[in-house]
Amino acid sequence: MKKILVTGCGSLLGQGIIKTILSSNQSYEIFGTEYIKDSVGLYWVKKAYILPDILKKKVKLNNWYLKILKIIKRHKINYLIPGLDFELPILNKIKLKLEKNTKCKIIISEKKIIDICSDKWSTSEFLRKNNFAYPNSCLPNNLKYFLRNNKFPLIVKPRMSSTSRNIFLVRNKKELKLALEKCPKPVIQEYLFKKNNEYTCGVIFNPKKNICLSSVVLNRNLKNGNTIKATLEKNKNNKIISNFIVEVTKRLKPFGPLNFQLCLTKKGPVIFEINPRFSGTTPLRNIFGINEIQILLNSLENKKLKKLQLKQGTIYRYFSDYFIKKGFY
Ligand SMILES: Nc1ncnc2c1ncn2[C@@H]1O[C@H](COP(=O)(O)OP(=O)(O)O)[C@@H](O)[C@H]1O
Ligand SMILES: [Mg+2]
Repeated sequence: MKKILVTGCGSLLGQGIIKTILSSNQSYEIFGTEYIKDSVGLYWVKKAYILPDILKKKVKLNNWYLKILKIIKRHKINYLIPGLDFELPILNKIKLKLEKNTKCKIIISEKKIIDICSDKWSTSEFLRKNNFAYPNSCLPNNLKYFLRNNKFPLIVKPRMSSTSRNIFLVRNKKELKLALEKCPKPVIQEYLFKKNNEYTCGVIFNPKKNICLSSVVLNRNLKNGNTIKATLEKNKNNKIISNFIVEVTKRLKPFGPLNFQLCLTKKGPVIFEINPRFSGTTPLRNIFGINEIQILLNSLENKKLKKLQLKQGTIYRYFSDYFIKKGFY
């Protein structure tokens, strides 16, 4: 049985990855790492380990590496799947060494891709330079020129952030000035949103075979930075977006997943964020008929891929409850 280590197994993303693996029609043994004990995800894996907090200065990269190495060796882990954004650049640094010393494959893209995706200014520049539609964007030092060609409302958001933190919709110069004061390392962007035109989408790519294994397009609504409702419909828009993200993926050539957030506009699909990892909506995609994790692992193991059967419909997300017997927490 193949063994998978999910990092950040307590995070929403980590939990989604675990749920998706558990509902695949192959059995895997799942292990986890975390930084904090208090999350249900730790109870869904065979064994969860607490890692030293790598974001603290006193924690050295090598100690963190040795701890992960020990877990991978002890359980003969086959795949490591990252469940935390901040770990991506760190895992990238230890990838070669870790893969040389174990039989574990880290599901992570090259540094170049992580760099493009982790900075929203770099993302829009990548799209522009590669002749894809892009959100008109500027950095504060180019604001004067940008305002000549772009009208309010505008979006001010951090170049590096997540879950909709510090996003400002500004309607005039006064609001723009205030937002720029409050927003850490901002990028200023044209406002792309119109009712119901936001999508979360994913493509799975196998760079060894140079093929896109799947693509999924979900129309979505957000609450507090997370998807609360997602709809899959096979229609013209879905096809346009799917073709577009496949083209962008072929240009980036990730190792495994790319996750796109975009608005469908008059310019066509305009991507405003790319995550080079599995998405928080991976378990929803699975319910719609695309188990992205299984699709990738099957392809890496040269197993025959089944024809995908997409289910059309809507998923609502809701809180749920999980009981843990006394003595187990
Ligand atoms: N240029 C934009 N136009 C309209 N809405 C945007 C734009 N950029 C971001 N948003 C809104 O803010 C949300 C969070 O922005 P995003 O770039 O995805 O950053 P985060 O890393 O915080 O998820 C998006 O899901 C979208 O609803
Ligand atoms: Mg986002």
